[in-house]
Order: sequence, then structure tokens, then C-alpha cells
Amino acid sequence: MSSSEWRNDQPLPYHVAMIMDGNGRWAQMHKLPRIAGHHAGAKRAEELIRFAGDTLNLPYLTLFALSAENWHRPKSEINLLMQLLDQFITDKLNEFVANNVRLLVIGDLSVLPVSLQRTIEHAIASTAGNSGLVLSVALNYGGRQEIIRACRKINAEITAGTIDPERLDITTFRSYLYAPHVPDPDLIIRTGGEQRISNFLIWQLAYAELYFTKTMWPDFTVKEFLQAISDFQTRDRRFGATEE
Ligand code: FPP
Repeated sequence: MSSSEWRNDQPLPYHVAMIMDGNGRWAQMHKLPRIAGHHAGAKRAEELIRFAGDTLNLPYLTLFALSAENWHRPKSEINLLMQLLDQFITDKLNEFVANNVRLLVIGDLSVLPVSLQRTIEHAIASTAGNSGLVLSVALNYGGRQEIIRACRKINAEITAGTIDPERLDITTFRSYLYAPHVPDPDLIIRTGGEQRISNFLIWQLAYAELYFTKTMWPDFTVKEFLQAISDFQTRDRRFGATEE
């Protein structure tokens, strides 16, 4: 077996989160408009979601589709991205229902176009009873914003007397995050060559293994996904403890 193959006898990650970076540069390399990179990226996401659910039986997959900071892009690109996301969720819904995929969306959805908000609500409701892959899509998401939002909610409860601040702990705090029942990611993959986290799941990634690749997202194949998993399987995860 080649070293790039994932091993069935080694623990698989339970939750993989992906920063899908490099669509714009991929488009530039192919002398195409940036939105063509996002379309190619959506195709890649489609393939990897199917593989994660059907072949890997991965319980949780989270995809960073739009950061809270991505709004500082030309309005034309944002509008096309909104359309693409709406189309993506609409087109994939039947497949998610058929394949037992449960869709969650994390982030501040209030500023998204109302039509996209409706599409999201409908897709979340239609897949709520599914028990297979939990696919979380991070949209207008920022980790710092998520933590501040949780603090505001907790503060309101402290003011109302329903939380004793002395009893606030990690478990209680977690319950105020966007998706409290989704476990922390075991593996975070970032494509596109940058080696940073960019405000993604910063509370949840405390013990995640990080995998960075120079491959642009539209070129991130199933084969490379398996290489990332194989690399994860070589990591010694001690969670702050010692070997003994
Ligand atoms: C980052 O590349 C990518 C995005 C901001 C958009 C990601 C969206 C998709 C892949 C569409 C599919 C959506 C879902 C829900 C699966 P970039 O534009 O920052 O690339 P660059 O760094 O090369 O400019």
C-alpha cells in the first residue's frame, strides 16, 4: 500500500472541516473570470461531499463557503457567489434527501439575500430528519463573531438570572455556538497554499490537526483528500496528555 493511501484499520477523522481557498487563482491560471473558479469549486465540493458521505461514511463535514470578511470583494463577485450558493443548495437538495445528508448552515444569515435565506431554511427543514453525513456550510461566518454572539447570549441569561456565571464552563459555552451538537473538527484542511486559519472555527479547532496544501480548491481531488486523511492517521493526538 502506498503511503498516500488512507488506512481502514486506523482511526478516521470524525469531523473534517475544509477551507476551500484558491478558486480565484485557479481561474486566473486558466485565464477565466473569477466566478468560473467558484463554479469549478462548487463542482469539486459536490464530488467531495458525495465521497465523504457514501464512501468514507464520514459523520461530519464542514465547508467554509463565505467568510464574514469576504464581503470586501467587488459587488459583482459577491452577487454571483450568492446566486451560485442558492443554485448549489437548490440543485443538491434532492440528492441530500436521497443520500441521507443533513444540511446545517452556520454564520450570520440575516444579511444574505432573502431568497437565499428562504432556500437555506427550506433545505435545512427538508433534511432535518436525515441521519447520515452532517454537512455544515459556513456562510458569512466568522469565528470571532460566533464567540461574541455566544457571549451576548450568555450575558442575557446571566442578566435574567438563568445562568450562574460561576458555573459557566466549556460545555455550557459550547451550547451557545451556532451548531452546538456538531463535535469539534479532528482535521482542518486548507487548500490554496496559505497556512493560516482566517477566523474559521477558532473556538472549535483547539485540538484539530491542520493540513495545508498548495493545491487550489478546484484541483483538490478525492485522491488528495485521502492523502490528507492518511497524513492525519500518522499524527500522534495526545490532547495535552502524555503517552502513559
Ligand atoms: C475562496 O477562494 C473561495 C470562496 C470565497 C468561495 C467558496 C465557494 C465555493 C467553492 C462554492 C461552493 C459552495 C458550497 C456551499 C460547497 P478565493 O476566491 O478566495 O480564491 P483566491 O484566494 O485564489 O482569490
